[in-house]
Amino acid sequence: MSKKSSSAGTNISSLLQEKRVFKPSKEFSAASRVPSMAAYKKLWNESIRQPDRFWGRHAKSELVWMKPFKKVLQWKEPVAKWFVGGQLNVSANCLDKWLGTPLANKAALIWEGEPASDGKPGEERVFTYAQLHREVCRFANVLKRNGVGKGDRVILYLPMIAEAAIAMLACTRIGAIHSVVFGGFSAQSVADRIQDCGAKLVVTSDGGYRRGAIVPLKKNVDDALILKNEAGELLAKTIEKVIVVRRTAHEIHMAENRDVWWHRELEYVDAKCAPAKMDSEAPLFILYTSGSTGKPKGILHTTAGYLLGAKMTHQLVFDVREDDVYWCTADVGWVTGHSYIVYGPLANGTTCLMYEGAPNWPEPDRFWRIIEKYRVTILYTAPTAIRAFMKWGDEWVKKHDLSSLRLLGSVGEPINPEAWMWYHKVVGGGRCPIVDTWWQTETGSILISPLPGATPLKPGTATLPFFGILPEVVDDAGKAVPKNSGGKLVIRKPWPSMLRGIWGDPKRFKETYWSEVKGSYFTGDGCRQDEDGYFWIVGRIDDVLNVAGHRIGTAEVESALVSHPAVAEAAVVGRPDDMKGQALVCFVTLKTGQQSSKELKNELRNHVGREIGPVAKPDDVRFAEALPKTRSGKIMRRLLKQIASGVEIKGDTTTLEDFAVIAKLTAAEE
Ligand code: WT7
Repeated sequence: MSKKSSSAGTNISSLLQEKRVFKPSKEFSAASRVPSMAAYKKLWNESIRQPDRFWGRHAKSELVWMKPFKKVLQWKEPVAKWFVGGQLNVSANCLDKWLGTPLANKAALIWEGEPASDGKPGEERVFTYAQLHREVCRFANVLKRNGVGKGDRVILYLPMIAEAAIAMLACTRIGAIHSVVFGGFSAQSVADRIQDCGAKLVVTSDGGYRRGAIVPLKKNVDDALILKNEAGELLAKTIEKVIVVRRTAHEIHMAENRDVWWHRELEYVDAKCAPAKMDSEAPLFILYTSGSTGKPKGILHTTAGYLLGAKMTHQLVFDVREDDVYWCTADVGWVTGHSYIVYGPLANGTTCLMYEGAPNWPEPDRFWRIIEKYRVTILYTAPTAIRAFMKWGDEWVKKHDLSSLRLLGSVGEPINPEAWMWYHKVVGGGRCPIVDTWWQTETGSILISPLPGATPLKPGTATLPFFGILPEVVDDAGKAVPKNSGGKLVIRKPWPSMLRGIWGDPKRFKETYWSEVKGSYFTGDGCRQDEDGYFWIVGRIDDVLNVAGHRIGTAEVESALVSHPAVAEAAVVGRPDDMKGQALVCFVTLKTGQQSSKELKNELRNHVGREIGPVAKPDDVRFAEALPKTRSGKIMRRLLKQIASGVEIKGDTTTLEDFAVIAKLTAAEE
């Protein structure tokens, strides 16, 4: 077990010693839209002092409107309405906008499939803007044909294939609300999400490829559609139709009158589909994410503000230019895939690459091979991947010509300075700036990040706020803390791409984000601001873990564990992990008569995998006779975290009910 904590970004003292600074190169500053710190400050000041003027101007110039908006912002905490009275369509802003321009025949989406297990290279598909427009219109008509209309919810449970982007855009074209469910989630998770948002239709595929194996997506949907709650009611009873993309072509079950093939349906429709006029605040998508309690919450984003945030940040943070080949390696099942594979890049007319497979299949040079093949200029990936590449060795990177790269990005968790330096030197050849972008599913787009032509970089910090964003580090009373002290990260002002709510649960929305610190949005992250005003994110301070860039709620895993017949009680904590940032450690007490064993340990790991999905499989299950509790019965997670990390028990244990518990837990075999 590793006791180092550097990779998790939680080791503040080592971060405080980071003194390296990388100034923007002259060449970069000269060509980028925000060419200096002075230019950044001037615009940022305007965006904070006169937000209506700033956002009004950009909303007009960046978006194509079907009806102009009357008012920039109507704010009554916690309810925001941006660009009130306006109408527009997201797919029209991403596609129709480019028709009749030289970009119509430019590559919008380059899709590369996973190589086959027999070594055959992966397939390749390229869609120009005109072709993508056509495919989106056709599939929008398929959705209509299958009974989907404005405001209906559609679940997309797909692998990383072009149809995922096409389906998302097709929903926006007709005003349907999509909810993408990551392919690594289980049937149970699919059913829970269908039930929560009352979805009418699922788009899935027969299967997806993952390191040569098939992920049985359609089978999972079949299972999800027959799951029942404790009262014996079907969870997914609102589903009327399932549209299936043929990807793996292995045998699957197609239910009569319910399941239809994507390619068959296309035969019945034409390629004409006018974009629906949508209000600025019409719901655009719901994306489920883990919180500190209960089931995942459906984060709601709306039309105009979200699109403006995704477009502007993509343009300015990545400094995109007309000839860029841009690659974001995230899955469309996460918000990064929404904002920075689909909506931001297409709204900017960028050529966007999408890759189906894993970074180390069939060999650990997969990414570098792709960069060389397509002459990728911008790469946006996650620290957990970067640390894996470091481990696999420089030789895999050096085998390939990466001289096309000009900018690198990082997202999902704090990047430790060591990984930053490696990314900079080995991947970026020392010439590419790195944008470390901080944001969340809830924020819709990047809130804290360098701008490559303006901001001097320091390894390990997301640096400064984007336009219109006013972050602050505060104490428990909500007061700003002095520079260099730790505190909670809050955002003081509303911004266009902010979440508009939790689907069906305004109370939880208010409690989670707007009650912790008065008058501010609470991020759930711990942070420190240095003497230059740079923000150093330390990681989550609530009961949410960030495992390999995936957000997992400890409460969710605990409830999955106690749903197993052998388990009496469970507590889940994170421990620092060199590769994944955090690893998931479960402490479990068993019901009387149950015996701990290696088999049971595996069984519990698999049980969580079945309940939530392979992404949430615990790294470690430890059996205990009892869990440490306060006299009032609260599990002492702080103690468990220390035990899980193998560090000495520090701090106040006087509230502990039974001291003997700790000694036993510490001694418990791993
Ligand atoms: C949490 C949000 C944003 C898309 C991917 C994750 C952590 C994200 C950074 C960064 C330090 C980061 C935070 C945040 N996080 N980016 N650059 N530096 N931490 O979205 O699943 O909603 O998770 O990821 O803890 O709260 P998400």
